[in-house]
Order: sequence, then structure tokens, then C-alpha cells
Amino acid sequence: MSNKILVLGGTGKTGRRVVERLRGMKLPVVVGSRNTQPAFDWEDSTTWGEVLKDINKVYITFQPDLAIPSAVETIQAFVEAAKESGVQHLVLLAGRGEKEAQLCENIVINSGLDWTIVRASWFMQNFSEGFFLDSILANEMVLPKTNSKEPFINVDDIADVVVNALLDNIHSKKIYELTGPELLTFENAVSRIAGVKKQNITYQEVSIDEYVAMLRSYQLSEDFIWLVKYLFTELLDGRNESVTNDVEKVLGRKAKDFDNYVVETLETGIWNEKN
Ligand SMILES: NC(=O)c1ccc[n+]([C@@H]2O[C@H](COP(=O)([O-])OP(=O)(O)OC[C@H]3O[C@@H](n4cnc5c(N)ncnc54)[C@H](OP(=O)(O)O)[C@@H]3O)[C@@H](O)[C@H]2O)c1
Repeated sequence: MSNKILVLGGTGKTGRRVVERLRGMKLPVVVGSRNTQPAFDWEDSTTWGEVLKDINKVYITFQPDLAIPSAVETIQAFVEAAKESGVQHLVLLAGRGEKEAQLCENIVINSGLDWTIVRASWFMQNFSEGFFLDSILANEMVLPKTNSKEPFINVDDIADVVVNALLDNIHSKKIYELTGPELLTFENAVSRIAGVKKQNITYQEVSIDEYVAMLRSYQLSEDFIWLVKYLFTELLDGRNESVTNDVEKVLGRKAKDFDNYVVETLETGIWNEKN
């Protein structure tokens, strides 16, 4: 029987780290993305069969987010394709507190395969590998007003948990809620980065309508704008304002904190000034 592991979104924030860890253990890994050969595209199910050949386990990171209305149909079709292809274990990354994403989680849970659900809070790395990087580089952060604090998580911790889930069946039929160790506002997070960068980063809060208008002026896709609006208006309503100890439960060590993330990220040079 094959022991190949497919990592979807294997070049992304969590996927890349999962791939590195599995390869470091000399395990056979297939990276799935639109830029791999063969390519995997969530929007084109004809690409899935080739990538699923001889795969035993899959780490699923969906794009752009399991909360989008079309995700249920896509995940249903993907789980069917994976089962037909002989896959035995699915590990699904989901957003914490996303009721809509739970419809997709249920498809995985009811698949008849081994499964693990990993629900994550906002990634710390959004400030260094994601959507907020440009604002940090420009020393100017504009965000919609929120009253809620978020327990940002380091994606290294997510990758460590996912690797455990893929390799040890003790994690089958488990739902983990992964958070960092402390609650921070977005303003707190930005000011910690500014402190370590030794750079003033202005922080401005605007209404969600003003923010959406700003995103439209950058000609971002309507799907992306829908998602940002959902994340800031629905998800950041206080429902996720708590920390869990699931990272420690799985890894036997504490979750990494935000200050550690900031220091490590500064050392990579990713926040150096733009030329
Ligand atoms: N960011 C957060 O704070 C956060 C928090 C909780 C949960 N999540 C969840 O984590 C998942 C990943 O989100 P992310 O925004 O952080 O992205 P990401 O993992 O950093 O990167 C995107 C990855 O997906 C691939 N990809 C993009 N579009 C694709 C498509 N149409 N078909 C196949 N692969 C595609 C990319 O490769 P190519 O471009 O080469 O295709 C890349 O490997 C999402 O499901 C999100 O809901 C994110």
C-alpha cells in the first residue's frame, strides 16, 4: 500500500511547512497547487484525479476559505474523488468559529475515512507572508474597526500539529482548536511589530464600508472582498476571544507567542524596507 501524502496548498503558509517537515523525515510527499506538475486547481475538478493517484493521506487547505458558499459542493466532490482513489485519511484545515466552514468539516467527518479537523485562529504570518505584509513594509496599517481580540497562532505550531495528525492515528476522529497563547487586538499586534522593527507604523481604523471601498480601488476580486468583509464583520464579533491549550495537548509544549514570532521574523529580513 502507498504511504504517499498529498499536501494541498503545499506552497502556502501552513502547507509549505508541513511539506518541509515530512520531507525532513524522508517521507514521500506530493505538493498540490496550481503551479505544480501535475497541477491541482480547486476550480477545475479534472485536475484532481492525476494528483490523487497512489495517495494515502491528504492535508487539505482550501482556497480561499471554507466559508465561501461554493466550498461545500467542491469539498463534497473532492472527498468523493479522494475516496474513489483509495485515500484513507484526511486532515482538514478550517478557520476557528466559522459556522459555514463546519458544513465542509461535516463532509470530511462523515466521509467514512479517518479524519482530523484542525481549526485555526488568525495566522501571525498574515503580517509577514500574507495580505498584511505590504502594509507592514509601508509602515502604514489601515483596518476595519473591530472590538474583538484575536489569539493569533504561529503557523509553525499548526504545521507541527498537522504532521502529528498525519502520522499518528491517535489523532483520528479528533477536532483541534489551535490558538496562540494570548489575546491581542490588531493594534496591539502591529505595535509589537513596530516596537521590534524600531519603526513607527501608523494604525488607522475605518468603517467596513470605507475598507471595502479601499479594497475595490485596488481592484481586488469581489470574492476576496466578500471574504474580508465576512472575516471582519462576522468572525471578529468576540466568538473567538479565548485561548485553548490544544497545541500543548498535541505537541506537549506551549504554543509559540507573538513576541517570539516578531523576533524570528525580523531576523529573516522579510520586513526590511522596500528599495
Ligand atoms: N490566513 C489565516 O489567518 C487563516 C486562519 C485560519 C484558517 N485559514 C485557512 O487556511 C487556508 C489557507 O489560507 P491562506 O490564505 O493562508 O493561504 P496559503 O496557505 O498561504 O496559500 C495558498 C496556497 O493555496 C494554493 N492555491 C491558491 N489558489 C488555489 C487554487 N485555486 N487551487 C489550488 N491551490 C490553490 C497556493 O498555490 P498556487 O498559487 O500555486 O496555486 C498556495 O499553495 C484557507 O482555507 C483559510 O481559510 C487561514
